[in-house]
Amino acid sequence: MTHQIQIDQTRLLSELQTLATFTDAEPVSNGTAVTRIVFSADDLRARAWLKKLATAEGFDVRDDAVGNVFIRWTGTEPSLPAVATGSHTDAIPHAGMYDGTVGVLGGLEAMRALKRSGLRPRRSIELVMFTSEEPTRFGIGCLGSRLISGTLDPSRADAMQDKDEATLAAVRTAAGFSGSLASVQLPSNHYHAWLELHIEQGPLLEREGIPIGIVTSIAAPAGYRFTITGFGGHAGALLMPDRKDALCAAAELILSVEKNALATGAIDTVATIGTCDVHPGAVNSVPSHVVLQLDIRDTDPTRRESVMQAVRRDCEELRQRRKVTITEELVNADAPAQSSHHIVKVLEETCADQKIPYKKMVSRAYHDSLFMSRIAPIGMIFIPCRNGVSHKPDEYASPSDTTLGVQVLASALAKLASE
Ligand code: GLV
Ligand code: MN
Ligand code: MN
Repeated sequence: MTHQIQIDQTRLLSELQTLATFTDAEPVSNGTAVTRIVFSADDLRARAWLKKLATAEGFDVRDDAVGNVFIRWTGTEPSLPAVATGSHTDAIPHAGMYDGTVGVLGGLEAMRALKRSGLRPRRSIELVMFTSEEPTRFGIGCLGSRLISGTLDPSRADAMQDKDEATLAAVRTAAGFSGSLASVQLPSNHYHAWLELHIEQGPLLEREGIPIGIVTSIAAPAGYRFTITGFGGHAGALLMPDRKDALCAAAELILSVEKNALATGAIDTVATIGTCDVHPGAVNSVPSHVVLQLDIRDTDPTRRESVMQAVRRDCEELRQRRKVTITEELVNADAPAQSSHHIVKVLEETCADQKIPYKKMVSRAYHDSLFMSRIAPIGMIFIPCRNGVSHKPDEYASPSDTTLGVQVLASALAKLASE
């Protein structure tokens, strides 16, 4: 029996709008500004609202010790490993309303549409909303999926601190998530397949007029923290020859990162210093201490490491010349992920059956799927976003592309759940 899958576009769009109202950001004129940091009041409100939607649909809801939310539609053979989908609802400061949310609310709508179609899935279908895909609060991305996949040591995770020196252990407990983080890990046979729907966050689909991207691999991200310590003091009285200005050294380090990333000549090497904390941070005080966070990614982890080696050589020269200390702390250095051939094939067949043009592509952004790949066969579906813009308030995906993405997701989930 074939099932007619009809996506309720009106409800999906209205739910995306509602989710965007749980935000700490001031409204802007050029889009929808969303800031939703993990375990903030808005994050907790968004979670409660999502769980209410799922419960209203009759799905089972549970959360784990780090706050990952699991929404399950039980199949006719509940003992079989489930098929899962999902993404995140947290958002970096001053972001948009589609990153992550399309995969969560789209996943929920896909499950509802399948239910409306009369499908009774053989395998259970589960929607996962991951805690802190974004690294804003604790400096490391994909917190929930790292713990699910056993990629992050639970005691290291609990000891991580936010900028106010509150530990994850304290913050999650205050948010109502207690219990050992070791219990978050899932075994590698827990899911039969994992599928994530996401905006592309790049320009290729829109540029080529293709509505669906099928991800074949996810680039390898790494994060480092540099602390530069010099000698500061009064901005008027400390003579120029006597200074060891930590911010001037940091400026050179930032440029070294850019220079060495460009020097690979590879379009897939990207490196960003996106935060710079200056101490004491006063206009009339020479900076004595600076902390920089580096985000560096590549499809080739060896090339990524060669950029780091070149940056380290520049740091050594900077230390000598500017008489500062520079310490480097590794936050994470992750391997790339490959999509499962089988899931890529299912997605290709789904698009071909429905005469939907698609393109196979690499994901340069990271996603929870990167870590789910450690415990399950994965696949990802991309939809275009306007001008390739993401992590900004003018991030936008059209209603028709969003709906088509959910349609492909629903069809693929139905196939995978019947296996
Ligand atoms: C995810 O938000 C990323 O930074 O790739
Ligand atoms: Mn993001
Ligand atoms: Mn995302």
